[in-house]
Amino acid sequence: MSYVVKDHFFHRAKKEQYLARAVYKLRQIQEKYRLVRPGDRVLDLGAAPGSWMQLTSSIVGPKGFLVGVDIKKIQHPFPANTVVLEQDIFEPAFEAKLLELYGPFDVVLSDMAPSTSGIRVADSARSALLFERALEIAGAVLKPGGHFLAKIFQGPEFHGLLLEVKKRSEWVKVIKPDATRKQSKEVYILAMRFRKSHEV
Ligand SMILES: C[S@@+](CC[C@H](N)C(=O)[O-])C[C@H]1O[C@@H](n2cnc3c(N)ncnc32)[C@H](O)[C@@H]1O
Repeated sequence: MSYVVKDHFFHRAKKEQYLARAVYKLRQIQEKYRLVRPGDRVLDLGAAPGSWMQLTSSIVGPKGFLVGVDIKKIQHPFPANTVVLEQDIFEPAFEAKLLELYGPFDVVLSDMAPSTSGIRVADSARSALLFERALEIAGAVLKPGGHFLAKIFQGPEFHGLLLEVKKRSEWVKVIKPDATRKQSKEVYILAMRFRKSHEV
């Protein structure tokens, strides 16, 4: 049985009316690197229950635009300049549809995580697949010069994927936010200023 401690960030999220403690991971990265700006068009992959969307929506403001995607239903009501899609990001041609209907985007975020089995190599392999797919989607829908932030569990695939991100953007940083649980293998790769695909 998994046992999750309701820690400081859990109680803070409740008090500040955020849908999940995960918000403090994005908030710390945002405060330091300002990846999302007022007026931006943002895609949030793996967005349920919606705390990253709450924060992002407040930053982009009424002139921005936000699309949140998850296989799980997102129940929270968001402003009119927000679209919520209940779907699997592995669906074929997903990125082409996204680009046609809502793109291009200034920022692509991914907090996607697999349901974990406790078997480290299996969980990190599934996280790597989600990360790789998020990177593929970002390559299709980001504006040149846009930014990409995505979660990955550190495992055998990590260094290869980090190299791939480095080829595609001008500046890359690996971040473990304070709200990430100490025993967790998760980190975030932040890539700023994506190159146009023909420059890769
Ligand atoms: C850690 S939660 C995201 C928390 C969110 N950032 C927040 O602040 O509320 C990870 C999410 O990734 C989603 N996810 C995992 N695999 C996915 C897939 N193939 N397509 C879409 N979403 C997926 C899960 O359903 C889960 O809701």
